[in-house]
Amino acid sequence: MDPIREIDHKFREIANVISLLNMVTLGHYGPVDDQVNQKILQGIHYLKKMLDDANMGIQDLLNKEKELLKMKDEFTSNVNHELRTPLTSILGTTDYLLDVLATLSKEDIEIRLKRINRSGHSLLNVVNQLLDFSRLEAGNMDSRLSEINLNKIFESVKDTFQELCDLKALKLNVQITDIKIINDYEHLHKVILNLLSNAYKFTEEGSITLEAVDKGNDVQIIVSDTGQGIEIEDQQKVFKRFSQGSIENNKAPGTGIGLHIVQSIVQMHGGSVDLESQPGMGSRFFVTLPIQSALIQKADGENHGKKE
Ligand SMILES: Nc1ncnc2c1ncn2[C@@H]1O[C@H](COP(=O)(O)OP(=O)(O)O)[C@@H](O)[C@H]1O
Ligand SMILES: [Mg+2]
Repeated sequence: MDPIREIDHKFREIANVISLLNMVTLGHYGPVDDQVNQKILQGIHYLKKMLDDANMGIQDLLNKEKELLKMKDEFTSNVNHELRTPLTSILGTTDYLLDVLATLSKEDIEIRLKRINRSGHSLLNVVNQLLDFSRLEAGNMDSRLSEINLNKIFESVKDTFQELCDLKALKLNVQITDIKIINDYEHLHKVILNLLSNAYKFTEEGSITLEAVDKGNDVQIIVSDTGQGIEIEDQQKVFKRFSQGSIENNKAPGTGIGLHIVQSIVQMHGGSVDLESQPGMGSRFFVTLPIQSALIQKADGENHGKKE
């Protein structure tokens, strides 16, 4: 039950006990005997327990509110960091190029341009994440349903990640699939991109795998890695907004909204996201989506069945 309703419920019970106590004491004529005393005593004990419970509920609520405020503070400072780091790198590298361009070899220039390009992409990712987050919070994420060949998305993300994985000497396995699904291309792309970005960020050696399994009425998209894994107590928490795992990773602070975005988009289409992870061994995210998005009933006819 929602904690505020639970507290409200407790207070209603408290009011009931007080009226009962009133009835027992005021409604009783004649001397107060042991039996009546006993009833009053029981009532008072019960009342005390209800008050203690309500008090604990209020404390819990206050603690949760405090935790959320702290997370929001961290989120703001993380966003600041995530925007400034690539920007600083872009500005620093372009300043350097402008200063000494004439003296540099073609290879030197290429290395720097690639660095600028990578920083530009991470900047764009953070900005896109922030936009998606605010659209989802406001409940106005657009959707355009069409028949999508999953392989098309798989190939597009493979292109994006292959070069990055080469930098860390990680093996990237992207399965070839012939599964088709009615969904929103951009949404699916975002979901897979977010999961792969995490897999890449939290994996230093081994491999990252992207695959899809036909489950009849559903499709399961699986992203696995051999990275640092997620502590058992964090495994549900990481889907909450602003929430980050407790394994320290100073190189990759992030903003803590990626998995929240993934889960919100998937749920919007009638699907779910599950996670299996062993700290130190790796993680595996399962996205289960109906072959036909749940939004299809709401979508207007003209979008149906259009090929991507
Ligand atoms: N593949 C993964 N391996 C290890 N930890 C992960 C992985 N994916 C997510 N996490 C944990 O979940 C947290 C939340 O992820 P996310 O919402 O994408 O936020 P962010 O990537 O900005 O930190 C991460 O901070 C990390 O602790
Ligand atoms: Mg992330």
